[in-house]
Amino acid sequence: MKLDRKLATLPLTKSNPKTLDSLFGNSDSMPMWVADMDFEIAKPIQNALIDRISNSGFGYEYKPKSFFQAKKNWYKRRYDIEIIKEQVLYSPSITATIAIAIENFTSEKDGIIIQPPVFMEFRSVIRKTKRRIIKNPLKLVNNHYEIDFVNLEELAKSESNKVLILCNPHNPVGRVWKEEELERIVTICKKYDILLISDEVHKDIILFENQFTSVLNYTKEWDKIVVCTSEAKSFNLCGISDSMAIIPNENIRNSIKNTFDKYNLGRTNALTRIALETAYSMGNEWLDQLITTIEANVLTIEKELANTKIKLIKPEGTYQVWLDFRAVFQDTKEMFSQITSKSGVALNAGHWFGREGALFMRMNIATSNEKVLKSIKSIIDAVAT
Ligand SMILES: Cc1ncc(COP(=O)(O)O)c(C=O)c1O
Repeated sequence: MKLDRKLATLPLTKSNPKTLDSLFGNSDSMPMWVADMDFEIAKPIQNALIDRISNSGFGYEYKPKSFFQAKKNWYKRRYDIEIIKEQVLYSPSITATIAIAIENFTSEKDGIIIQPPVFMEFRSVIRKTKRRIIKNPLKLVNNHYEIDFVNLEELAKSESNKVLILCNPHNPVGRVWKEEELERIVTICKKYDILLISDEVHKDIILFENQFTSVLNYTKEWDKIVVCTSEAKSFNLCGISDSMAIIPNENIRNSIKNTFDKYNLGRTNALTRIALETAYSMGNEWLDQLITTIEANVLTIEKELANTKIKLIKPEGTYQVWLDFRAVFQDTKEMFSQITSKSGVALNAGHWFGREGALFMRMNIATSNEKVLKSIKSIIDAVAT
């Protein structure tokens, strides 16, 4: 895939010298942390944006039928799911939808269940909404993460725990939850009246023989679900994207919609609109190419790590790899400072995703194979010396 030639000149969070310096002690670190890509966006999206910019002004826009139709077709073609227009709300970000769902359906101090190590914003949003973080840590069994269903059921039983936030595919460990696992989650949520928020933002990046299943497949069994997703991760549009929430239950949907309306969160951004619509109507081929590139990068890392003490947790989805340094280090700080200073590669420390991630690191591999190879070799060298 073509690398973005202008990356170095863009004010990107991942390569902001100040941020690199404060987090990694080196403003020149090679950024392989924030979850966006080094690749140019798909040509049809570029062309559509250029065309929109050169085409008259930017008056107030609405989302034409074609906007929803692109999403509908995408879901049908890639996941065989019929999404229903009336069930879809648009929101500026996934995190905003999660915060609003929590505020509208729980009270302060209620428990919100998450499954760490997991995307750090879940913790942050629970804290900011003054709810309690209830952890059901994932279990690592034979180099494969699993859900602790026994503990999940115990937590769900408690009257004060009201919501489960599921991450599917799971950032950072790369699991793509299987049908049997989702069925068990839905059964528990139904049994104990738990609102299920399913963050499916990484759904389009599914690797190797794995298959994505949405909780939308289970709405007949349990409809108290809020599915959050967007095209941002799939098409390198994080700086331009908004998000969508698919909410089958009318009461839940109306409540969240009222809050969106109250804060006027539904305005259509013309460039976002055209980028997202084009992504889902013309981005199929580009995405398939991306997935092939990511798979090749995973295999490169697997090969390089084969005779080392660093273990790869092979991802089923997402463009992150989760690296296990437990056989090398005993101390998280020592691990972070040795890898960061000696390799010059900026990775997310595993404990940023919860203490369950201690002695792991997350590496973003949405970049060229050469860069992946160079950085994994530097990491191996940094650990060996
Ligand atoms: C699981 C997950 N959800 C949500 C987001 C961010 O979404 P938004 O910017 O729309 O809040 C990310 C970004 O890394 C993510 O990994």
